[in-house]
Amino acid sequence: MTADFVGFNPLLSEINLCVVWAFTEMASFFRRTIAAKLARTLQQPEEAFLPALSAVPVTKKHQAADFRLSVNTLRTSGVFPSSGDIQLQTDGLVRQLNQDSVVEGISSVNGWINFKINHKLLVQNMLEPLGKGEDEKYGMDSDLLNSLKRGTVLVEYSSPNIAKKFHAGHLRSTIIGNFIANLKESLGNNVIRMNYLGDWGMQFGLLGAGFGQFGCQEKLKQNALQHLFEVYVQVNQEAERNEDMKQTAREFFRQLEQHESEALSLWKQFREISVDEYQKVYKRLGVHFDIYSGESFHRDEAQEVVQQLQSRGLLKISEDGTSVVDLSPDGDMRSVCVVLRSDGTSLYITRDLAAAIHRSGKYNFDEMIYVTDKNQASHFHQLFQILSAMRHSWADRCKHVPFGVVRGMKTRRGEVVFLEDVLDEARSRMLHNMSQTKTTKQMDDIEDMAEKVGVSALIVQDFNGPLLSGYKFDWDRMLQAHGDTGVFLQYTHARLCSLIKRNEGVEASAFDPSLLLQQTSVAILQHLLRYDEVLYQSTQDLQPKHLVNFLLKLSHLIASAHKELPVKGSSPDVAQARLRLFSGARSVLANGMRILGITPLEKM
Ligand code: ARG
Repeated sequence: MTADFVGFNPLLSEINLCVVWAFTEMASFFRRTIAAKLARTLQQPEEAFLPALSAVPVTKKHQAADFRLSVNTLRTSGVFPSSGDIQLQTDGLVRQLNQDSVVEGISSVNGWINFKINHKLLVQNMLEPLGKGEDEKYGMDSDLLNSLKRGTVLVEYSSPNIAKKFHAGHLRSTIIGNFIANLKESLGNNVIRMNYLGDWGMQFGLLGAGFGQFGCQEKLKQNALQHLFEVYVQVNQEAERNEDMKQTAREFFRQLEQHESEALSLWKQFREISVDEYQKVYKRLGVHFDIYSGESFHRDEAQEVVQQLQSRGLLKISEDGTSVVDLSPDGDMRSVCVVLRSDGTSLYITRDLAAAIHRSGKYNFDEMIYVTDKNQASHFHQLFQILSAMRHSWADRCKHVPFGVVRGMKTRRGEVVFLEDVLDEARSRMLHNMSQTKTTKQMDDIEDMAEKVGVSALIVQDFNGPLLSGYKFDWDRMLQAHGDTGVFLQYTHARLCSLIKRNEGVEASAFDPSLLLQQTSVAILQHLLRYDEVLYQSTQDLQPKHLVNFLLKLSHLIASAHKELPVKGSSPDVAQARLRLFSGARSVLANGMRILGITPLEKM
């Protein structure tokens, strides 16, 4: 049973519509109904029209049309001839289409056909599925989203370097990667969240060499990240002026590469303690990983990769004795990638090659996504090129998601060295702001709340624009309660929760849709029609801005509804209907926030 039958029967009773709702939810039902109408009129399959149909974005409050069809898209996909006047084609099609009990108005403008659906059905269809205990999935059961392929997706993100600074780029990678993992998971993929630590390389030579002189086991146990960083800075300074120190560092790293047990056990201790500390901080950020991998895991395999390159005839020796893969199109060594130093040690890219091959064998992923700043774009480009040259068919399943640079991320203590500092600062600034407002109640968990709101603010600031463009970090702007901020999202959510809580018992399973036909409520529902489109778009380009903008807009619409559609003082059936609307909006807001990596708060 599909929308086909709905469209054919203009006298369709509402009982029959309920049967259809059991199969499709929210926007899908209307899209299918419109597509079926087009399909019959033009004698083409329904599927031909679905990609050209979308919900009309809510711009002003009063909006006549709910869906629109792009005739241009139909021309591109060959449903219509791409020659001829587009407006004539559009007008011609509009004349052929008939209105019915679901689609009440059809008009054309600038190559688009606008459809107005019956708003009572809109209200009923959108709010009916709520309150059945599945609100967490509300909006996710959609034809559009169900059409997406599902599989195993490995997302690698955060990936800081032990003993080195955790900079703004690592914070960005952490929250962006977490968003991508959440998004993929919510769409039914099996997601593997991986942290690929910088846990190998010369920095451990220096650390190992310097720890004896500058290190302290006690401090290491108290605050590993900070202490290792201090030692690292000191030993670097020392090595600058002292050749012996450099020599000791090289020697220590050689011992590591040769698996000498004493050196290895110190390295292991550094790594383990660091991972423990990272985990605590990630928890504050609401982020977790399934696997803490790292460069060290692939140090031996890296040598095997070089062998494989050799046996496939892909390895060349350059003039300075390094081993390279020639990536120039004409094979004239104009663009090469070094995979082995002249002393036989592996490089960052060699370990990445080994890691990718290892992961493919172990997880058989359908997609692997790396999240780092755009400075590493050419590294990943080369990585994927070499994997394809090695004839790994899965090379084209690997993707790099690059992002731009954040400027000016500072705390009161100065330049940021540790993620913890950023979180502490966000929390204390938020606590301060909250203490200034009268509405903040005395709550025991106020610190925890301030932290969660602070993290939301960090995330929304970061996700506001295209990932590739950088931005200036601005504490004051991101923590504003009324701008387009994470604080505003949390505030909206908390306000809805308290409204719903205050009216416990008022909400009933039945409600009268004709009580929600005001512009303010219709605008919210028209906006919710786009939820699956926004998620769909987000999976296509992996940009969080679509969802952020969607949720901010939703919050603005909710703010108007709060003013114009009071629950308190309304008759019971009006109160019931309005609460239903508010809880629908709350579910989508909360679900969207969770995908972004924000924990929605129930009070604030
Ligand atoms: N540790 C690296 C850095 O901080 C990022 C690692 C990115 N991932 C990778 N597979 N290369 O720059």
